[in-house]
Amino acid sequence: MTEQAKRKLIIAIDGPAGAGKSTIASRLARKLGYVNLESGAMYRALALKAIEWDASFDDEAALLKMAQGSTIILERSIGGNRVLLNGKDISARIRDRDVTEGASRVSVHPKVREWMVERQREMGVGGGVVMEGRDIGTKVFPDADLKIFLDADPVIREQRRLDQQKVKGVSAEAMSAELRDRDHRDRTRAASPLAAAQDAVVLDSTKLSEDEVLGRIEKLVEDKVKL
Ligand code: DC
Repeated sequence: MTEQAKRKLIIAIDGPAGAGKSTIASRLARKLGYVNLESGAMYRALALKAIEWDASFDDEAALLKMAQGSTIILERSIGGNRVLLNGKDISARIRDRDVTEGASRVSVHPKVREWMVERQREMGVGGGVVMEGRDIGTKVFPDADLKIFLDADPVIREQRRLDQQKVKGVSAEAMSAELRDRDHRDRTRAASPLAAAQDAVVLDSTKLSEDEVLGRIEKLVEDKVKL
């Protein structure tokens, strides 16, 4: 694995919610000594700003203006990645349900996406990154060295989300319905919908443990580095 440090790859991991992208991306980045960039956190930061400013998730012009007036920083720290919006740590707040839904809604707007994609390219251009999201292999880095599309059966993804995020007073059915709505929106929007890039390696994690998924990706990385 030491060879990897010499050739700094761009690794794209895309897929739907609950497929295990975040955990895998963060473990892989740690192993390789790479930076883990969670692009969804940027859409979440913008959704949070819209909530705080009482702006509509449907108002593309207002959202773009808010994005342009914001500094969103994805920072690595010992306890995991921190997300800063204009210097304020919003890492925990952006996982709440209102922000989760908002992120999916603000991400349908092409101009918002263009702004995000530019920032994401700036962050990843030097390589040595594992960037995860929905359009990394198709749009942000179409020439990424390695593209993984991580998928899993919807029932499993819903179960994983429920295990991760037990919210008081919210039924399992409501949480599952929210995930399905979000999935549908992310896959059917006109601008860069969630889809596997043609040259992505599709991994179905339904029956695989986290270690197995990681092992397979590491093998693919090794093969790339040998090229
Ligand atoms: O990965 P996540 O669940 O934190 O992403 C939140 C939302 O952001 C997701 O529902 C769709 C959007 N998103 C996107 O459109 N493109 C990305 N590269 C990452 C996230």
